[in-house]
Amino acid sequence: MLDDTFLLDAFTVQLREIMDADLDALHVLSLSVGWPHRPEDWQFLREVGQGVVALDPIGRVCGSAMWFPFGDDFATVGMVITPPRLQANGGGLWLMRHVLARTEGRSIGLHATQAAHRLYLSLGFVDERIVHQCQGEAMMPPDVAPPTGAEVRDLQPSDFAALCELDRRARGADRASLLASLVTRSRGTVLCREGKPEAVALCRPFGRGFVVGPVIAATDEDAIAAVRPLVAAHAGTFLRIDTGQTEGDFAHFVSLCGLPVYDTVTQMSLGRPWAPEAARTPAVYALASHTTG
Ligand SMILES: CC(C)(COP(=O)(O)OP(=O)(O)OC[C@H]1O[C@@H](n2cnc3c(N)ncnc32)[C@H](O)[C@@H]1OP(=O)(O)O)[C@@H](O)C(=O)NCCC(=O)NCCS
Repeated sequence: MLDDTFLLDAFTVQLREIMDADLDALHVLSLSVGWPHRPEDWQFLREVGQGVVALDPIGRVCGSAMWFPFGDDFATVGMVITPPRLQANGGGLWLMRHVLARTEGRSIGLHATQAAHRLYLSLGFVDERIVHQCQGEAMMPPDVAPPTGAEVRDLQPSDFAALCELDRRARGADRASLLASLVTRSRGTVLCREGKPEAVALCRPFGRGFVVGPVIAATDEDAIAAVRPLVAAHAGTFLRIDTGQTEGDFAHFVSLCGLPVYDTVTQMSLGRPWAPEAARTPAVYALASHTTG
């Protein structure tokens, strides 16, 4: 039986639901580890996921961990944070053990920072692939001719079912509830052939500016055509894109947009593999976020 209290450094912390935590305190926690999340970004994650926090005896937030169930048998995990002053005391492991207890029976996918990679390895997670966090002040992207037979237009509300289906095929999990929340905050593009959506890209405010993702497409060419209008619309502003396409035409296009690789994370899984994505068509060209995949 897991204990709901834990002696962290010189004091005992208590496990609480993240929904009951103060939003500004969560914001301070992520700032303490240099993450860009705004209070709005935390609130969005609390709407689409679940989580726990560690509270010290006077109610300060000393740690967080969240999970995002998709379907009956899969969840992603993220927002695992302990403040620098309290790290390497076992708090991260304690929080993760609670997450794994709460998600028992589900396979788990996550994106590990370098700081957390060994912690997840020790819990049995295995590496799947590297994901590049590309970001910077976006430049006007190069002109690209639309792929043969394809047209790119703005995402319409009537495209929602097609968006969910493309995402489900690429991800191998039903993420309709996450996508429903994302589209209310995002501008999107759709690449169609003969009127049928074959690629989608969303872009929304996040952190220091905007993030492009998810991007689902069958080929680099289609992904570039879907993403290009979103980058063009944000030229001169801070833009981020998290992509597992670390080489090839899409990766090259992202660099031409003024978005160099800023950091890398490792996609990991526990249970069934998360990413036979390489074999899937369409594929995930960019994540909605590290936290939700
Ligand atoms: C990643 C993170 C959550 C780990 O939290 P933590 O509280 O330091 O985690 P733990 O203390 O449980 O484990 C970290 C290390 O300390 C060691 N440790 C655990 N208890 C210890 C103790 N009492 N004394 C000394 N070391 C201890 C662990 O063995 C582990 O070592 P490892 O690096 O060999 O795996 C934390 O570093 C963090 O918030 N980083 C910034 C945000 C981030 O990257 N989050 C991960 C997102 S995927």
